[in-house]
Amino acid sequence: MTEKRQFRAIKGTRDILPPDSALWNWFERTAREVFETYGFGDIRLPIFEETDLFARSIGSDTDVVGKEMYTFLDPPRDLDPLPRPPEPTRPLSDLIPREVISLRPEATASVVRAYIEHGMHTLPGNVKLYYVGPMFRRERPQKGRYRQFYQVGAEVLGQSDAPAIDAEVLEMLLVLFRRVGLTNIKLYVNSIGCKECRPKYVELLRSGLQRVKDKLGADSQRRIETNPLRVLDSKLPEEQAIIETLPRISDHLCGDCLAHFAKLKDELKLRGIEYEENWRLVRGLDYYTRTTFEVTAAGLGSQNAVCGGGRYDGLVELLGGQPTKGIGFAIGTDRAMLSIQEGSAPKLPGLGVFVAWMGAKAYPAAVAIARKLRECGVAVELPPEEMKFKKSLGLADKLGARYALIIGEDEVASGTYTLKRLSDGDQRKLSENDLLEYLESERRS
Ligand code: HAM
Repeated sequence: MTEKRQFRAIKGTRDILPPDSALWNWFERTAREVFETYGFGDIRLPIFEETDLFARSIGSDTDVVGKEMYTFLDPPRDLDPLPRPPEPTRPLSDLIPREVISLRPEATASVVRAYIEHGMHTLPGNVKLYYVGPMFRRERPQKGRYRQFYQVGAEVLGQSDAPAIDAEVLEMLLVLFRRVGLTNIKLYVNSIGCKECRPKYVELLRSGLQRVKDKLGADSQRRIETNPLRVLDSKLPEEQAIIETLPRISDHLCGDCLAHFAKLKDELKLRGIEYEENWRLVRGLDYYTRTTFEVTAAGLGSQNAVCGGGRYDGLVELLGGQPTKGIGFAIGTDRAMLSIQEGSAPKLPGLGVFVAWMGAKAYPAAVAIARKLRECGVAVELPPEEMKFKKSLGLADKLGARYALIIGEDEVASGTYTLKRLSDGDQRKLSENDLLEYLESERRS
C-alpha cells in the first residue's frame, strides 16, 4: 500500500485565500484602472523564458541571476526524455542556450523581448505596458520575501528619454498608492549615470573600496571586483560609516546626466511629488541607467521596499533591438498587501444575501430569486439542502451576509419575500420588484 502523505506548499510559496484574495484582486484591479487612465495596456507574458534573456538583461554577476533563478533544462523530447536540472558546477554558458530556461525572476526583460519580437517600435508614440503576475526568486524566505511573489509593473518604451516620462511614471505610481490607502510611503530617487560617466565612477569607487578593503565584510570584498556598486546596498551596520566616506555618483555625473536629473527633480516639483535623494540607490539589476527609484512603506520591517524601478535606455539594443529608451517599475504586491492590511484596509462588500428557504414549496422560488439577484450582481448563498430556520440564520451570520431573505410557505402563498438586515434585525416584506429595487439602492449607497 502507498504510504499516506500530507502535502504542504513549498517553502517560500503560499496560498492566498479568501477573504485576503478579494483584497488582492481589488488592489490589482485598482492598479489596472489607474494605469489605464495613463494610457497603459496589459501585456500577458510567459512565466518562463530562455535563461540567457535574464542573464544578459539583469547581469550574470547579480544575485538574481547568479543565485536566485529556478533554472532547468528543457531539451527536445527525442534527445533526452528525462530532463535533469543543470549541475550547479557547470556554467550556464556551457549549455545550449535555447534549451536552458528559467522561471522569470522579474518581467522587464520579458517586456523588452516582446517589444523587439513584435516590432513594437513601429507603433505610434511611446509604448506603455503593464503586467500583473507571479515572479520567482530562490531567496531566503522571511516576512515580505517569498520565492514565489507577485508584481504589478509598468514599462514605457520609445524614442524619448524626457524626464517628464520618468516623473509621470512616478506620479502614476503615487496616485495608485494613494487610491489604495498605502500610507507612510517614501520615494527615494537617484541617478546612476550613463554608459559614458558610470564606468569612470565605478573605477573611482573601486579604488576607494580597495583603500578600505580590510574593514569590509567578505561579501563586500568580493563585490569590489565583481560589482562595486552593490557594496553601496550593504545593510551591515559596521560598513555604514565606511560607505559614507566613498565617492558619490552625484559628484561624477556627466553634463547630460546631471541635466536629466535636474530636470527630473523640476518635473517632480511641478507635480507636487515629495522625494528624497539617495545616492546609494543603485538597485540590484544591471540594466539601469540614469534615474533609479524605490518606494518604502510602513509596517514591513527590513523588507520595506514596496516598489523599485528606473530607466534602462540601453536594454532594447543590448537584446538586439533598435536604440530605444525605457523606464518602468515593479510593485511587490505581497509587500503592498502587508502594508495595506497593517494600516486601514478597506472593507470590501462580501456576501449580500443568504436565502433562508423552508419547505419543499419554497425551494423553486428560492432557486429563481437567487438567480435573479445574482444577475443583478448581488452575492447570494443558497443552501443546497433545507435547514432549520435558526440554523439558517446562524450560518448567514457566520458567513457575514448582510441580509437573510426568508422564503417560507407564507411568502410563497402571498408572492412576497421577507428581507432581514442582519446587523440590526430590521425586517420588511417586499414584492419581487421592490426587493430588487431595494437591494440595488442599498448597493449604490
Ligand atoms: P526589483 O527591485 O527587483 O525590481 O523588484 C521590485 C519589487 O518587487 C521590490 O521592491 C519588492 O517589493 C518586490 N520583490 C522583489 N523580490 C521579492 C521577493 N523575493 N518577495 C517579495 N517581494 C519581492 C524589478 O523587479 C524590476 N523589474 C523593476 C523594474 C521595472 N525596473 C524597471 N522596470
